[in-house]
Amino acid sequence: MKLTILGGGGFRVPLVYGALLGDHAEGRVSRVTLYDTDADRLTAVARVLAEQAEGIDDAPAVVVATDLDEALRGADFVFSAIRVGGLEGRAADERVALGEGVLGQETVGAGGIAYGLRTVPVATELARRVARLAPGAWVINFTNPAGLVTEAMSRHLGDRVIGICDSPVGLGRRIARVLGADPDRAWIDYVGLNHLGWVRGLHVAGRDELPRLLADPELLGSFEEGRLFGPEWLRSLGAIPNEYLHYYYFNREAVRAGQDAQQTRGAFLREQQEGFYARMKDPETPPFATWDRTRAEREATYMAENRDVAGAGEREESDLESGGYEQVALALMRAVARNERTSLILNVRNRGTLSVLDADAVIEVPCLVDAGGARPVAVDPLPYHAVGLVTAVKAVERAVLEAAESGSREAAVRAFALHPLVDSVSVARRLLDGYTQVHPGLAYLAP
Ligand code: G6P
Ligand code: MN
Repeated sequence: MKLTILGGGGFRVPLVYGALLGDHAEGRVSRVTLYDTDADRLTAVARVLAEQAEGIDDAPAVVVATDLDEALRGADFVFSAIRVGGLEGRAADERVALGEGVLGQETVGAGGIAYGLRTVPVATELARRVARLAPGAWVINFTNPAGLVTEAMSRHLGDRVIGICDSPVGLGRRIARVLGADPDRAWIDYVGLNHLGWVRGLHVAGRDELPRLLADPELLGSFEEGRLFGPEWLRSLGAIPNEYLHYYYFNREAVRAGQDAQQTRGAFLREQQEGFYARMKDPETPPFATWDRTRAEREATYMAENRDVAGAGEREESDLESGGYEQVALALMRAVARNERTSLILNVRNRGTLSVLDADAVIEVPCLVDAGGARPVAVDPLPYHAVGLVTAVKAVERAVLEAAESGSREAAVRAFALHPLVDSVSVARRLLDGYTQVHPGLAYLAP
């Protein structure tokens, strides 16, 4: 199997390669092509991978490429993990929103819209190229905002693109653990959009164990989302929301925390990563140890600023063991490549799963996966409070797709203005002006 990673110079690529190194079964990935627009970053990451592969006989061969068409030809799987505008772009997404008094976050609210407006045109072009040069390949999209970007790509790739995220799996595992259940045997009733979903049940041997958790304040206070949202709110809601819903349910606090913070998450990561890539230019720098230290630092500060507000503090070591997105990606590839049927929570087209959305809307939902791809399973309808958020945010995503396709400023303003976390059309107009001023990738929307 041949895997191509778009964004192959990215900081998380060693995690993916590490997961591949642990797979020794027939039909595993034997060659990885790293494609990136930045040759220095490619070189740095390739050095880390070379060290990871030392002493492992069947380690996948690594090839680096700066020609996209060459990288795509012959691929069985394509991982799309790009960051249009880099971390500097992310920091600007966060900063401009906070300057207008609204949430400044990578994927949620105004920041996510700006990121989507920059990314959709690029992801769309990538999808067209994959459709032409590797029509049989499966595309696994990690690029954020993952649901929106997957939907944009699905317009050219149909069900051959599947979006992934580590947050629903992590949440399911944390809930299973506090309930004393084996996460691999539990059926997690989770649905929504990417970074906008709820666990409504956790079924073990046909029994829903979630009511037991909701009834027990002590258990609720013993894991990350329980502390983040507070036991009372979770009981009142009757479900466990994805951690990203903190930005909706505690929006005012999140905005204030963002404004009070010394720097945004994007700005912190930018400094950190610039340091990493700069050190890697020195041939004396030990690649893996340097990467691993940077990674550990990053995780220790995971969303810490906003979590502190809710008293949730830093993410605990046990909360990190969820086996991040690289494990989801590997599980998905194995199921498809070997026709090993499994169930995973993925971003796919709705078909008829959520009746409030049309068939082409990409949703995040448990899927059955095998060589035929991923098919969403039937789920209970969403309660009205969730219908409200999911349909409002899907309307925003559709406005982003329209703006990206037509270059319409009007559609872009509509995207910002219709978002539940943007409280005025005038703010929406100023956001678009602010973003077009700082992002070269938004020149197509400039007045
Ligand atoms: C989780 C989410 C990703 C997101 C990341 C941000 O893994 O699922 O979609 O990009 O967190 O983490 P960071 O360390 O970049 O703030
Ligand atoms: Mn995610």
